[in-house]
Amino acid sequence: MRLSPSHSSSYPLIVILSASILPVWSQSTVRILPLGDSITGGPESCWQALLWRSLQQASITNTKFVGSRSGQQCDFEYDGANEGHVMIQATEIVSEGKLVPWLESSKPDVVMMHLGTNDVLNNKPTAEILQAFGTMVDWMRESKKVMRIIVAQIIPLDSVFCEECGERVVRLNEAIPEWAKGMNTTESVIEVVDCWTGFDTDSMTSDGVHPNNAGNEKVAECWFKPLSRAIKSAGGGEEVSAAASPGMSAGSKLGIAAVAVTVLCRWWWW
Ligand SMILES: *[C@@H]1O[C@H](CO)[C@@H](O)[C@H](O)[C@H]1NC(C)=O
Repeated sequence: MRLSPSHSSSYPLIVILSASILPVWSQSTVRILPLGDSITGGPESCWQALLWRSLQQASITNTKFVGSRSGQQCDFEYDGANEGHVMIQATEIVSEGKLVPWLESSKPDVVMMHLGTNDVLNNKPTAEILQAFGTMVDWMRESKKVMRIIVAQIIPLDSVFCEECGERVVRLNEAIPEWAKGMNTTESVIEVVDCWTGFDTDSMTSDGVHPNNAGNEKVAECWFKPLSRAIKSAGGGEEVSAAASPGMSAGSKLGIAAVAVTVLCRWWWW
């Protein structure tokens, strides 16, 4: 490589450009859309805050929660964006085509959904709810071919709301794994998360439906592992852990700088 005197003033530019390339290489931000009803976006919903904090504590920081709604006020600042709409049914999201514009504006890499509670309250049959889930999965994949989708087996409903509601939730939850298997692809993996087991409506909800503090902790816990896996696979686990460690090795920094210099030299000379 020849550097004529006229190019010597370009050194600072090379350094600046190399430095600006580094973060892009070492970190890929994963956009996560929490999709649901008031259990996700209602006034008492703080499980997302707890989940976010658990991710920080595990050094999983390459995340951005997305959605048109901002998070609830919880005990600490957190990344609270979500698409949790009070009273909403899965069947309604589909019949009114609501998910398509939500996906268009939030552009997620991962969708985590906890839906069906209001469908159950409105006595929608399991098959109809699952059909709506299926349409939503289709839309998610139209938005992103390799969308990672996490679907919750939803938390229980107390029978104070309707005598059969508890049993209807159980029937929906029992049908979710088989449905998910049928829609699963290697390109766009669906993972089912069990948020039902161990969730006690008496001690973990304020009103038979909405998680209280103990319930929020339980819901955060049920999402944590599957979401961490989805973030690692969507964001590139190796690169992420390299970024989380004290820094990239001097070797890889030099390598990247060399690539940058080569590109710039080509750009200048040819
Ligand atoms: C979908 O496939 C992946 C492997 O590609 C697997 O880990 C996951 O459990 C499957 N999901 C379901 C619901 O069977």
